[in-house]
Amino acid sequence: MKFSKLLVTKIKISMKTMFMTKIQLTLGLVLSGLLISSTAIASGNAANGKTLFTGSKCGTCHGTEVYTSKDRKVKSLKDLEAAVRLNDSKLNTNWFDEDVKDVTAYLNQQYYKF
Ligand code: HEC
Repeated sequence: MKFSKLLVTKIKISMKTMFMTKIQLTLGLVLSGLLISSTAIASGNAANGKTLFTGSKCGTCHGTEVYTSKDRKVKSLKDLEAAVRLNDSKLNTNWFDEDVKDVTAYLNQQYYKF
């Protein structure tokens, strides 16, 4: 009698955890789906770009004043992406294409504002 009661409780608990796992799984899927679609829409993630830029050695040769100088050479978002790519190659950081786009988005949001 005692044993069967224990068994029922055990089954109840395991059903409960299964249910929770299902909820967590669904939530996880929904969240990752949102994440994928948001990165697909935006061309670059400025927040991630900020993290990358802050953690980089980009400030070794020049400060951020080159981004706001009136003599700056970068005239478009395309120029900016090319400049980030070129400077990344100087540092051998080997940023992925997405990283270059993220840093471009950050510098544009913060300084260039194209
Ligand atoms: C080895 C030295 C060096 C490092 C490291 C470096 N830069 Fe530069 N960067 C330069 C020089 C020199 C110029 C100016 C080139 C010119 O006259 O166009 C420049 C120019 C730029 C420009 C264009 C400024 C304009 O005229 O609008 C951007 C954007 C830029 N750098 C971004 C970066 C980023 C992002 C990093 C880090 C990945 C970085 N730089 C690291 C040397 C460096």
